[in-house]
Amino acid sequence: MNLKIGLIGCGGMMGAHVKNGYAPLWEAGYREFEIIACCDVAEKSAANMADLIADWQGTQPRVYTSYEDMLDAEPDMAALDIVVTHSSHHTVAIHCIESGRHVMLEKPLAMTMRAGKLILDAVEAQGKVFSIAENYRRSIENRACNWLIKSGRIGNLRQLYWVGCRDRQWHWGWRDELDKAGGGWTFDGGVHSADLFRYHIGPVKCLTALSRQYDNIRYKDRENMSDPVEATIEDTTMALLEFENGVTGVWVESIVSPGESLGVQRVYGDEGSLDFGKGLKLRGRDEPTSMDELKDEFLGQLSEEQSDTFFPRGIRNPLAHEVHEFAEACLRSDSIETDGIEGFKAQAICMAIYESAALGMQPVTIRDVESLTVETYQRPLNEGLGI
Ligand SMILES: NC(=O)c1ccc[n+]([C@@H]2O[C@H](COP(=O)([O-])OP(=O)(O)OC[C@H]3O[C@@H](n4cnc5c(N)ncnc54)[C@H](O)[C@@H]3O)[C@@H](O)[C@H]2O)c1
Repeated sequence: MNLKIGLIGCGGMMGAHVKNGYAPLWEAGYREFEIIACCDVAEKSAANMADLIADWQGTQPRVYTSYEDMLDAEPDMAALDIVVTHSSHHTVAIHCIESGRHVMLEKPLAMTMRAGKLILDAVEAQGKVFSIAENYRRSIENRACNWLIKSGRIGNLRQLYWVGCRDRQWHWGWRDELDKAGGGWTFDGGVHSADLFRYHIGPVKCLTALSRQYDNIRYKDRENMSDPVEATIEDTTMALLEFENGVTGVWVESIVSPGESLGVQRVYGDEGSLDFGKGLKLRGRDEPTSMDELKDEFLGQLSEEQSDTFFPRGIRNPLAHEVHEFAEACLRSDSIETDGIEGFKAQAICMAIYESAALGMQPVTIRDVESLTVETYQRPLNEGLGI
């Protein structure tokens, strides 16, 4: 029996799930699933997604504009893939979990820690599969970097430098609205980074941070930079991190740095550095090993079994791995790499930044954020969500 899946939220990222996850798996012969329904509050988005799927699947998913109606009308639907606005993550996910379905939910787990905790409670009560669709760590680059770090090639880890400064003046819909997004790029993109920190280095113990909003104007007309609207998210955060294993880190995100952009993703050990773009450089060796060489080295040492796990049916797109892992977990109780707890812990690092900033750069422990002891930044968001 194949897994009957429903899709909720048929926007940009669901398009990527379908194009880079479900479709290539199907075309490579993995046909243990069927997408039977597509739901979006915008009917056209759901209908377009259903048409796209019908092209390769051969059967047309039914279209819904209410996920509650879809859950009621599709008793055979055992699993949901949810890709909606951050402010709806917990309501939609909890409803689906409590209806007895398996759920894969896009990152971040939820808009606040309190909302995330409600999801974790529902997952625990129902005992169904729950996956956070965290794709970054599943890329070949990150698999290779992880293998290299864990095998001790740069020695004992010391420091992390993670800086992304760019300039985004164009308006990005709900992502520029605090009550829909929960935070700026430090949260939306940053939760991937937080997950990578945990994956490559380990748990963060505490941090201190500041945040700024330098520029609250974004432009709806991207071509001409006209039609201004007000953004309510922060645009810059700077944080100092201390990991439980003693590693120290600097993490900076800004979307209001005009001119030359700045991007560094680097880890230092006591024997050398690993730059996630440039590759490996060991002390005393002039020539770095490029990321392409590291990837080849990583792929070359994988066993057949490991290769099949990381790259199901030989497909190297991280979204195929994520979807395949979810389907296998639903069908055969296989494990999930990024489950709800992983999602909660990655989210906590981002929220700790906002909490520390809201407290005037006071140090904040991740434990206090996870236990909902510190909620200064999140309180108004929780009130808006009614939780
Ligand atoms: N993993 C990644 O690399 C990645 C990349 C982009 C986005 N995302 C995540 O995916 C999610 C969605 O982002 P997006 O870029 O696709 O946004 P989007 O705005 O393009 O799509 C969201 C869709 O959800 C629909 N929607 C919202 N609430 C709904 C509800 N209650 N019921 C049904 N449909 C609903 C909207 O109409 C819209 O079509 C977010 O959580 C975002 O963080 C992840």
